[in-house]
Amino acid sequence: MEIRLDRIDFSALSRSVIFLYGSEVASRVLPMKKDEVAFVGQKRKDDISSMVVLNRLPYKIYVQNFDSDLPNNMALEKLRKAAADMQQLFSKEGVKSVAVTGEGVIPEEVVAFVEGLHMANYRFDKYKSKKDCRLEEVVVDARLLKSEDVDENVRLWRRIDTLRDWVNEPVMYLNAPKFADIIKSEADRIVEQKTENGERRTDLKCTVFGQKKIESLKMGGLLAVNRGSEDEARFVVLEYKPANRVNKRPVALVGKGIMYDTGGLNIKPDDYMTEMKSDMAGAATMASALFAAAENGLPVWVMAFLPMTDNRPGKNAYAADDILKMYDGTTVEITNTDAEGRLILADAIAYADQQEPELIIDAATLTGAAVRALGDEVIAAMQQDADDPMRMLGIVGDKVYERLAVLPFWKEYDELLKSEVADMINCNLHANAGTITAGRFLAHFAHHPYIHLDIAGVAYYGKRKSFYGVGASGFGLRLLYAFFQMYEGIRK
Ligand code: BES
Ligand code: ZN
Ligand code: ZN
Repeated sequence: MEIRLDRIDFSALSRSVIFLYGSEVASRVLPMKKDEVAFVGQKRKDDISSMVVLNRLPYKIYVQNFDSDLPNNMALEKLRKAAADMQQLFSKEGVKSVAVTGEGVIPEEVVAFVEGLHMANYRFDKYKSKKDCRLEEVVVDARLLKSEDVDENVRLWRRIDTLRDWVNEPVMYLNAPKFADIIKSEADRIVEQKTENGERRTDLKCTVFGQKKIESLKMGGLLAVNRGSEDEARFVVLEYKPANRVNKRPVALVGKGIMYDTGGLNIKPDDYMTEMKSDMAGAATMASALFAAAENGLPVWVMAFLPMTDNRPGKNAYAADDILKMYDGTTVEITNTDAEGRLILADAIAYADQQEPELIIDAATLTGAAVRALGDEVIAAMQQDADDPMRMLGIVGDKVYERLAVLPFWKEYDELLKSEVADMINCNLHANAGTITAGRFLAHFAHHPYIHLDIAGVAYYGKRKSFYGVGASGFGLRLLYAFFQMYEGIRK
């Protein structure tokens, strides 16, 4: 979907127009007949977020009412959702091009609405012979936005699309070696986009560790999970280190890259396996967050550590009762091969920790327990020695409406991870607090301020959910981007 700024002329319409109507008084901009004014006014009174269609054959004017007295996070979210409803309507009616204008509307409201349109307009349809009708072009009234605002947001929204594509791709197309290649070429492409003075940029690097390198590093968690797979594992390291960075040490992002989670030898029963192509959403989100920061030149030094493999019962698959030696030397007794995410993440967190980051954040579709406890509205968040960053992340989460539920993270929970034969077990079978104990397992490997984000509930929607659509949602990327926009480094 192309987004551009232009003038909108109601006396010579060349496409349908969405009119964001935030004012109580009759519009001065939108030409309406008396009965239309009365009708829109009444609809507005009945429901402040109602939508009215005015027919101006062959085009239509979609009047979207909203409450301009509420320019807060909830009002903006309502606009995103209204945009999603409208996109559904356009899809049905075959509308491919619309203009957006309005009255009593401020830039952040316009941005939220267009964001909703863009995200709702996403389809994963590359394998469909018959594709849905989608918006191809959105023209935003040049009086309402500056081109810089549009450009920055469009780059972020394109990242959301790409992230969703990655998560939606099945493993038969997107295995670990392929995903690592794609991330590498994406990084190369960004580096090639020359800077203002026409030079190749030097602030972005991508290194891919292959099987041999992972073996020589003795990443016991990643290697064990990979043993049942036909494909090699990968470990991708990304670094964005801008000259004007505000932080003295990097922010380390870690993402779970399980390309497919069959459960391994503890194979997932019934229909629990479907949708497990999305088990690499954490890695996809973290790579995308770093790329978005780089593309928009945010002044934050960020690294990303992305362990990748699928989890399968093949070959010489790792088994319950195995005892692994992790990258940092910790030994782990396997109690269930389906608790694999924490094994590959443990190695990645321990590796990230060696870079002396000022903050580690991981994102992982880690536990079904998070879905059961919190549903699909919210990320389960936990922190160790990172009170302030967690508070800040919570605030930006409320702002962009990708919110966090902060769970307790007390040491006492470590009781549940005790092993008779090793330093820890990988999962406390049939026990309670599954999301917290998974987080506690990971926290063992972090010795710097650490935030754990369990995105199992939000990364992938089986049923259409407003502008997040159906399938991969991209949930979490706007959160991390907004966090980087506000980030000033940890000051201790
Ligand atoms: N990838 C799953 C978690 C998951 C479940 C994500 C549903 C999204 C939706 C993870 O690897 C897993 O299998 N977790 C197990 C842990 C159990 C064996 C302790 C779970 O949650 O059932
Ligand atoms: Zn699993
Ligand atoms: Zn998993």
